[in-house]
Order: sequence, then structure tokens, then C-alpha cells
Amino acid sequence: MAILEVEALSKSYRQAGGESTPAIQEISFQVDQGEFVSLVGPSGCGKTTLLMCMAGLLAPSGGRVVVKGEQVAGPPRNLVLVFQEYNRSLFAWRTVLGNVLFGLEAKGNSSRDTEKKAKHLLGLVGLEGFERHYPWELSGGMQQRVAIARALAYEPEVLLMDEPFGSVDAMTRLELEDSLLKLWKELCTTILFVTHDIEEAIYLSDRIQVLGRRPSRVIGDVVVPLSRPRDQLATRADGRFMELRNEIYRQISGDGVS
Ligand SMILES: Nc1ncnc2c1ncn2[C@@H]1O[C@H](COP(=O)(O)OP(=O)(O)O)[C@@H](O)[C@H]1O
Ligand SMILES: [Mg+2]
Repeated sequence: MAILEVEALSKSYRQAGGESTPAIQEISFQVDQGEFVSLVGPSGCGKTTLLMCMAGLLAPSGGRVVVKGEQVAGPPRNLVLVFQEYNRSLFAWRTVLGNVLFGLEAKGNSSRDTEKKAKHLLGLVGLEGFERHYPWELSGGMQQRVAIARALAYEPEVLLMDEPFGSVDAMTRLELEDSLLKLWKELCTTILFVTHDIEEAIYLSDRIQVLGRRPSRVIGDVVVPLSRPRDQLATRADGRFMELRNEIYRQISGDGVS
């Protein structure tokens, strides 16, 4: 069953001269309950624009987004967006625990067990023992873990993630990918993950939506037939992994510049 439906979604931005140019054009796809779907596309093709429209933070110029049968008109309560720039999305004046508590309080939790819940979430993302630290005392990867724990505090049914591991080093990135897969499995949530990294999309996903160049449209819907649990070495060494990577690369690079 589709939990998320994007129907002919378009968004144009008005340029300095006054004319408006499209960033995304008639994008349509669906995500089923519990699925892990990635959106992959080149830089500047409109991925963030699409997510902002889906999260109800930007009004589309055309089309619509439907979450659990309801059309998005503002931020939906059962959907949360994790931004690319974790260092700007965390509250610098709140501790790690305080950041996660914020999500729980926003959700209306005010009982005595919020602290217990927050600590549980921090444990899930591997940050046990860092509750009293401030974001600036942590590495980039750890800060992104805090941002993910805070997003989970909203108990979202759908998690949208905008290139969340784009600014961490390669090793940390692999660790974060595996943590995310573990969380996804434990929490039975639905994830729409945006990345410009084709291999990251294949490693994580059940299915990949391939976006073309700006103004982007969906140019491919690729099912990932690789078994789970995934393994950074074995999965990436699988012949089908490489075939998929080549296929998606060809789709993107073969898409004419518009
Ligand atoms: N607020 C804005 N005003 C005007 N143009 C914008 C704005 N935000 C993004 N754009 C343009 O829209 C296109 C898509 O941007 P974006 O959604 O950020 O792409 P991506 O996330 O795939 O890199 C880019 O060409 C970008 O310059
Ligand atoms: Mg972006």
C-alpha cells in the first residue's frame, strides 16, 4: 500500500529578471509502507526542491503530494525531513539530550518518561554516553546521528532524508549507512533517501527513482534485487550491484542537457 504519493509535482522559481524557470517538472512516483526508496540525481537537478515540497515547506507550482491519503498543504504530522546540513539544523545551545527532547516535546510528550525515551533513541543511533555533550563537541558523523535521533523523536511514519551523509568522511559514511539500515528495520518506518551517490542509493534501497537533469523528471524506476541484511563488502562485490550501478549511471549520463 502506498503511504506516499507524488503526483505530477512541478516547482518553478522566479529568477531575478522576473521570469520563472522550472526546477522540477511533473514528477510522479509512489512509496509503499515500510519501503526504503532512494532518489538519485545529479547536483542541482531539484532533489532538495522536491523534498521541501513533500515536507510541506514549499508550495508546489503544480501537482500534489499525498501522505496516507491526505494532500500535503503544510508540514504533515507523520513525516519528518532530515536536512543535509546537520550543523545548521541542530540547536547549538541545547545538549545532545536536549536536542532529542525537543522532538519529543514537540510531539506533545510531557510525561516523566521523555528523558528515558530520548536516551533510548540516542542508544539506537549509537550515542550512549554523549547525552550531556553539546553538538559542537561532536564530530560531523555524530552530529548527524543526533539529527537522526531528533527526527525519530517525532515518531514519523515517513522519514525524508536529504543527502544526510554528504558531508562526512568515507568511513563514517559507511557506518552511518549501516546504522540507518538497522534503525529502519527496527522501527519499521518508511524512508525516502535523497543522494547524488549512485552506489549509496543501491546499497541502501529496495527501489531507486532516477532523476534526470534540471528541470528534472523521473527517468528510471529501478528495483534493487540484492538480499538483506546488506554488507559493505559482500553486497558491493555482488555482480548485480555493479550492473545496477552501470545501468543507473548510463541513464543519468545519457539524459540530454536541457
Ligand atoms: N530559492 C531558490 N530560488 C531560485 N532558484 C533556486 C532556489 N532554490 C533552488 N534553486 C535552483 O533550483 C535548482 C534545483 O535546486 P535544488 O533543489 O537545490 O537541487 P539539488 O538538491 O538536486 O542539488 C537549481 O538550479 C537551483 O539553483
Ligand atoms: Mg540538494
